[in-house]
Amino acid sequence: MSHRLKLGMVGGGQGAFIGAVHRAAARLDGDIELVAGALSSTPEKSVTSGKELGLADDRCYPTWQAMLDGELARPADECIDMVSIVTPNHAHYEPVKAFADASFHVILDKPMVNTIEQAEDLVRTVRKRNVIFAVTYNYSGYPLVKQAREMICSGELGEVRKVVVEYNQGWLAEKLEDAGQKQADWRTDPARSGVGGCIGDIGSHCEQLVSYMTGLEVDSLCADLTSFVPGRRLDDDANLLLRFKPIDGAQPARGLLYASQICIGGENDLRIRVWGTKGSLAWHQEDPNQLLVHRLGKPDQVYRRGNDYLCDAAKGATRLPAGHPEAFLEAFANVYAGAVKAIRAGAGAQGPQQFDFPGVEDGARGVRFIHKTVESSTSEAKWTRL
Ligand SMILES: NC(=O)c1ccc[n+]([C@@H]2O[C@H](COP(=O)([O-])OP(=O)(O)OC[C@H]3O[C@@H](n4cnc5c(N)ncnc54)[C@H](O)[C@@H]3O)[C@@H](O)[C@H]2O)c1
Repeated sequence: MSHRLKLGMVGGGQGAFIGAVHRAAARLDGDIELVAGALSSTPEKSVTSGKELGLADDRCYPTWQAMLDGELARPADECIDMVSIVTPNHAHYEPVKAFADASFHVILDKPMVNTIEQAEDLVRTVRKRNVIFAVTYNYSGYPLVKQAREMICSGELGEVRKVVVEYNQGWLAEKLEDAGQKQADWRTDPARSGVGGCIGDIGSHCEQLVSYMTGLEVDSLCADLTSFVPGRRLDDDANLLLRFKPIDGAQPARGLLYASQICIGGENDLRIRVWGTKGSLAWHQEDPNQLLVHRLGKPDQVYRRGNDYLCDAAKGATRLPAGHPEAFLEAFANVYAGAVKAIRAGAGAQGPQQFDFPGVEDGARGVRFIHKTVESSTSEAKWTRL
């Protein structure tokens, strides 16, 4: 199969944020062509948005249901191969379920869905239909995150003792939702965002980044969620203590996770530090082309993207030579690239492991993490098991 994969998109119309990033990521390697869209919750805007993107008139659909029916009615060689779903959280489950059930491959943004039951149902659906399913936890697409993963998981830094992951944003320090800002509006509405505010929106990235980079899985947590902005209905600040499941009988690692959207001055300030028995490392999303490594008793080292000394996964996730900065779009495109390889290889359920991208199980673990964090924050118990 060497033709470009044909993509349909749900969400991402006029005025939307992440849909345009998905389109750029999908285009980057020339393997995917956007051919159809149901791009907005408003049928007229959906059609207009599709026309603006140059889609054929008969593939600018008013709704995702019309897109599903319309595409299924086309000859197999014209029909879309895959769909990207980039709607607000409450509008993930129904289209994802319907497209996966119809055996389309799916790229979905995080958090995967709003309830644990929906997440478990999607795991079953993806297994049953044997489709490729990627969740755009884009931070695991960075080459130096892959380098860090390789160093940690191969034991170079010894047994992991402690992880600190933080994600500081300041854009919700005021009640932006009252000013009609659409991204703030749905993110602070429990009916659309889900049970978590900040913890679901960006805390979920932290959980996935730790899990991907270290191989550690949260065993139990102690969470303190706060809504600092008066009248806000969901958390805008999250502070968590983490206990991880032990790996190979080692002493279980501990962690701190804090995510906030009221940290004035914070832009997209995602950072992770990992300390093992033989060394440590630190990576910062706003300076993503370098990885700081300390080995016990040795001078500090700075690993830089694009160099031959990096591991194969890091080199494979790199498009430009050293010194030509790559960042958000390229990392996002790496999730797409993994999914494309898995589709072409017919990898089915093995796709995420074989081609190194986050899959439905990662998405489901993330949904559970959000729910357990909210449960912990409202409970008097010190530890909540996942
Ligand atoms: N991976 C990341 O870094 C990242 C960053 C931002 C957002 N996200 C996730 O992406 C998703 C979208 O976030 P956003 O900030 O782009 O939201 P947004 O509000 O900017 O855009 C959402 C789009 O979906 C459309 N939409 C809503 N319901 C629809 C429906 N039923 N059918 C078709 N279109 C519909 C809206 O009209 C809008 O065009 C969320 O799940 C969010 O958590 C991920």
